[in-house]
Amino acid sequence: MLETQGYIFLKGVYEKDGVIADFNKALNDFMTKHKVMMYLQKPMDMDEELFYVNNTYSNINTYEKALYYAKPVIENRGAKNRTTEIGYYDIYQSNRLFPNLLELFNVKTLEAILNKTTSSRWKFHRANIHISNNVKNPMGYHSDGMADSIRVLIYLNDIQTSQQGAPVFIKGSHTVQGRANGIKKEDIKIFTAEKGDILVHYENGFHRKLPQEISGVNGYIAIHFIKA
Ligand SMILES: [Fe+2]
Repeated sequence: MLETQGYIFLKGVYEKDGVIADFNKALNDFMTKHKVMMYLQKPMDMDEELFYVNNTYSNINTYEKALYYAKPVIENRGAKNRTTEIGYYDIYQSNRLFPNLLELFNVKTLEAILNKTTSSRWKFHRANIHISNNVKNPMGYHSDGMADSIRVLIYLNDIQTSQQGAPVFIKGSHTVQGRANGIKKEDIKIFTAEKGDILVHYENGFHRKLPQEISGVNGYIAIHFIKA
């Protein structure tokens, strides 16, 4: 299924009253204690003890720099061009800010699932946290290039309707042939979900998040795997 469709969606992988509730609390506490939302409103970068808030893209201007920076980078996506992704924040190296994250979300088990459900072998690459705070103008359909990477998107919030910023994946678009077909209506898969569900997809397939027409904050943990 994963190899043919480019995605699988699994319900109730993580307990909403267990690991999800605990992590949401830890994330909230962290954001409050370290005044992260306040720093994200500033016009300049904020070089804090535990993390670096990228508000200007003058110092950290590529994905690689964000990924390998000396401390976790909190990226203010909307600040990049001030037209798209306003309210979207991406936390790199999040397993350094939350040191038990990989164990809490059983990354080894996820890896084993990918090894069983595809004909390749996979290894953990990175864990990001996405926060979508009333994003009205998300990025449109795009492909994240690398054929050899899979993303596991763990929902930290319920998304009951497509108006709440639901993730979308175009079925089959992870193959050259699938991409050549363009986007057909019947292949547009919109993933409303409950917290604790997961969407697993090849990153080179076309994907996006829909606009949050209904206001709210959605959190995700994005665990990326690459070919071993
Ligand atoms: Fe993407």
